[in-house]
Amino acid sequence: MTAILEKEHGFDHSAAEAFAGKVGDLLDAGAVAVMMSIGHRTGLFETMSGMPPSTSGEIAAAAALSERYVREWLAAMVTGRVVTYDPERRTYRLPPEHAACLTRNAPLGNLAVYAQHIAIMGAVQDRVQACFETGQGTSYGEYPCFHQIMSEDSGQTVTAGLFTSILPLAEGIEARLSEGIDVLDAGCGRASALIAMAERFPRSRFTGYDLCQDAIAFAAETVREKGLGNIHLEVRDLTGFDEEKRYAFITSFDAVHDQRDPLELLRSLRRALRPGGVYLMQDIGGSARLENNLDFPMASLLYAVSCVHCTPISLGQGGQGLGTMWGWETAEQMLGEAGFREVRRHTLAHDPMNVWFVAGR
Ligand SMILES: C[S@@+](CC[C@H](N)C(=O)[O-])C[C@H]1O[C@@H](n2cnc3c(N)ncnc32)[C@H](O)[C@@H]1O
Repeated sequence: MTAILEKEHGFDHSAAEAFAGKVGDLLDAGAVAVMMSIGHRTGLFETMSGMPPSTSGEIAAAAALSERYVREWLAAMVTGRVVTYDPERRTYRLPPEHAACLTRNAPLGNLAVYAQHIAIMGAVQDRVQACFETGQGTSYGEYPCFHQIMSEDSGQTVTAGLFTSILPLAEGIEARLSEGIDVLDAGCGRASALIAMAERFPRSRFTGYDLCQDAIAFAAETVREKGLGNIHLEVRDLTGFDEEKRYAFITSFDAVHDQRDPLELLRSLRRALRPGGVYLMQDIGGSARLENNLDFPMASLLYAVSCVHCTPISLGQGGQGLGTMWGWETAEQMLGEAGFREVRRHTLAHDPMNVWFVAGR
């Protein structure tokens, strides 16, 4: 690690050549990631996972897409070693071992969901470059499809594990939810976790607040389709939030670090808990110290997301810009400063990028 951070003596030609090779690999990886994002959005991975070795024409027809574009995409996938190619027959195949982490409901989780973050970074490059020059921030509306991507992301890390590994972190909470309590999800986005809880626990009452109108509108449509009567969703800026002793259970899923004032939000969430209430908080699990994050899962991706999204979003609200990698240490310290008691920290096998805190009022 010291060598990575400090080596700066003389000029080592072989090291320079090796590094240039690494940069080439990085460029290739970035390009493959953007192509993966397209593969995810067009459904090409799902199409291919159900097919025997097939020509570009057969794959394009099965996916109802243009053959010329599909063929070029396939070439990027073959050279990226994602798809295999038989030059005799001109057929392509997505091996089942690769489909296992690139398709919806894949057994290893769908990593292609995260490739969309890479594609968005390119889309907002000009805007973020301007922020480098002005020091100003951005707003949610400037990120195309943000809530759709976030909802797919948390669909895997939160909603998929909600009843098997997440709610059990808060001892006794499922029994209380079954009896009927008031629940708040702060910064709920498209609210898939809240909706899943509302379906499972019909005697409890669920509230979801989020800053963004489009996310709440999407969530409200889902609630309407499911015919749920125990959930209230509202477009609401949580800055200055104050609802004294109203909820027995409060959750926030990846929604604290990019707030204008995370500590003030935590204070107000504690005040909003009834005596005996429980706060369950998911946030990014990296360390506050850069040197501890060199081997953290997808650390470069998280710092990059921080640079183009979480930091400018917070700065854009007049906030501190703590960034995605504010660190579990900062989160834990703030929970203490906010007055939470019996703060317990957990990591979950299915969600290596995040940390989970359970805290009492
Ligand atoms: C990273 S997203 C997480 C969304 C959702 N919890 C999920 O897991 O899919 C953070 C969410 O916090 C919301 N948010 C950020 N600042 C907010 C504020 N001041 N008031 C209310 N919501 C806010 C954003 O609109 C966004 O939906």
